[in-house]
Amino acid sequence: VFANVVQAPEDPILGVTVAYNKDPSRMKVNLGVGAYRTEEGKPLVLNVVRRAEQMLVNNPSRVKEYLPITGLADFNKLSAKLIFGADSPAIQENRVVTVQCLSGTGSLRVGGEFLAKHYHERTIYIPQPTWGNHTKVFMLAGLSVKTYRYYDPTTRGLNFKGLLEDLSMAPSGAIVLLHACAHNPTGVDPTVGQWEQMRLLIRSKGLLPFFDSAYQGFASGSLDADAQSVRMFAADGGECLTAQSYAKNMGLYGERVGALSIVCKYADVAVRVESQLKLVIRPMYSNPPIHGASIVATILKDKEMYYEWTVELKAMANRIINMRQQLFDALRARGTPGDWTHIIKQIGMFTFTGLNKEQVAFMTQEYHVYLTSDGRISMAGLNSKTVPHLADAIHAAVTR
Ligand code: LMR
Repeated sequence: VFANVVQAPEDPILGVTVAYNKDPSRMKVNLGVGAYRTEEGKPLVLNVVRRAEQMLVNNPSRVKEYLPITGLADFNKLSAKLIFGADSPAIQENRVVTVQCLSGTGSLRVGGEFLAKHYHERTIYIPQPTWGNHTKVFMLAGLSVKTYRYYDPTTRGLNFKGLLEDLSMAPSGAIVLLHACAHNPTGVDPTVGQWEQMRLLIRSKGLLPFFDSAYQGFASGSLDADAQSVRMFAADGGECLTAQSYAKNMGLYGERVGALSIVCKYADVAVRVESQLKLVIRPMYSNPPIHGASIVATILKDKEMYYEWTVELKAMANRIINMRQQLFDALRARGTPGDWTHIIKQIGMFTFTGLNKEQVAFMTQEYHVYLTSDGRISMAGLNSKTVPHLADAIHAAVTR
């Protein structure tokens, strides 16, 4: 009965790892998926995460009961505080509803399904380009997906004029997806002044902002600074949605831990919104897993562990910044044609190199360097030993 099922293509990002795993070469480097690696090229479990896990394991009263549909209550409260700020008026006025979801993707999907059911405008505008999964997540949630201009390939920076033009043409009420910080894949963020202009436009047109916050702490190294865009919108009394992920900033990739928050205008609305979110979640996966959320809650509620987390997070962010400089210097040293200053100017986990599809294919074939076909490099996958090899590959690709 399934004989007519056709072979689906691999995922554009996770498929890069599949191809990498199949490659027997000893010089292969995986710069596809945004996953942190140490200077030794190994995945990292944060010390503070190990400590939290130990505490959980050693606690005899800990059981494995179902969580509520909305997840671990402590985790939800602490996650809202982390993104909106401890003194957020929206939290104090009980206008924020937060539900634990399956990392960033699950949070986006639950938010998308909720909007498709309960919001009057079904169109979501996503930046061009954006994370490859956004389109599919929102389409399958039942929204219609359109794009707004974001990136200017000639400057390798923000196309702010295009962005403002496209958002001002969007129908009133349309949903706008915004990357809270460290835009994926470009590593290009608006300045605080530009965010303020966007906020004024979005509010004056009655657009609904939906933030994807997957890299809090990775852009500037400061959790507060990286939440500033979200806080500007949450503080003005209007509505917004936020999807948070702990995959990168706590290194909890496979634990699938994240949160969806919806800031409402009034506390009684928030109560009703929560009741409807439960109806979205229950038939989808019933209730979320307990382990990852317990780790996060343990760290966030303990002052000393929270501090340890910020130190480890900063160390990850700094290592990435260091890789940017090393790659830039290596290309300079080789006299590679082109202006590569964007490598040090862009922020977060990724560099959007400007290399085209053919150049990427060449680098993979000849140098066993794996990256997404749009030319995005995960800087977190690089280390001092692999920088020269990557620089050789880029040099060969652009001088071919
Ligand atoms: C990425 O963009 O590499 C990450 O967000 C991982 C993913 O799920 O695609």
